[in-house]
Amino acid sequence: MLSPEPRTLLQILKAETRPHHERAERVVRLVSPDLTLSGYRRHLEALHGLYAPLEASLAARLEGLYPELRLAERWKLPLLEEDLRALGHEDASLARLPRPARLPSLPGVPEALGTLYVLEGATLGGQLLLRHLTRHFEGISAGGFAFFRAYGEAVGPMWKAFGEALLRACPDPSLAPRVVRGAQDTFDTFEVWLREVHW
Ligand code: HEM
Repeated sequence: MLSPEPRTLLQILKAETRPHHERAERVVRLVSPDLTLSGYRRHLEALHGLYAPLEASLAARLEGLYPELRLAERWKLPLLEEDLRALGHEDASLARLPRPARLPSLPGVPEALGTLYVLEGATLGGQLLLRHLTRHFEGISAGGFAFFRAYGEAVGPMWKAFGEALLRACPDPSLAPRVVRGAQDTFDTFEVWLREVHW
């Protein structure tokens, strides 16, 4: 009898983090019909608090090791800052935004790749949110939704390239559980932090 094809790391990640995604998705209140501009701004502020330290840790762990990950093209902090500046923030107020006390520990490269998987995958669901926000704030000066727009037309190709780069960076299947743990921990950090956003 033929044994089943081994699952790719992306398939394993998707399956093993599904409940974590569902819980994180549930605390995102951007699709609520009574979303206000300040609610949207508070969501972006919370994301800024997460992405600033997370991207700094990822850069420390991964930068220079795997050029195929194209990290410099993937950082979202500049996009969040573009949106927040359009909503009235400046350098000083951005620097004062609160950050979570607890962040995923990234003891090694596999866990860091798991975190990166979560930040990259969020650009996919982000396309649904972009469509919703564009409609919801039509005629209102809400900025250009740079964070949710992410790579624009290139969201699909960037995700595909990420999947391929992930396999090259982590070809050893015995490391998959550590990548999964990094991803689960990151989803849970989002869930806890976003649940605390005051609307
Ligand atoms: C209302 C909020 C959200 C919605 C509606 C949403 C929706 C989606 C959808 C529809 C996909 C699949 C896209 C596709 O296969 O083309 C997806 C994938 C994904 N989302 Fe979300 N999402 C939300 C929030 C989040 C958050 C907050 C995170 C991160 C903390 C996240 C991380 C991911 C990841 C990692 C994937 C890739 C799953 C895979 O391996 O295929 N999502 N999301």
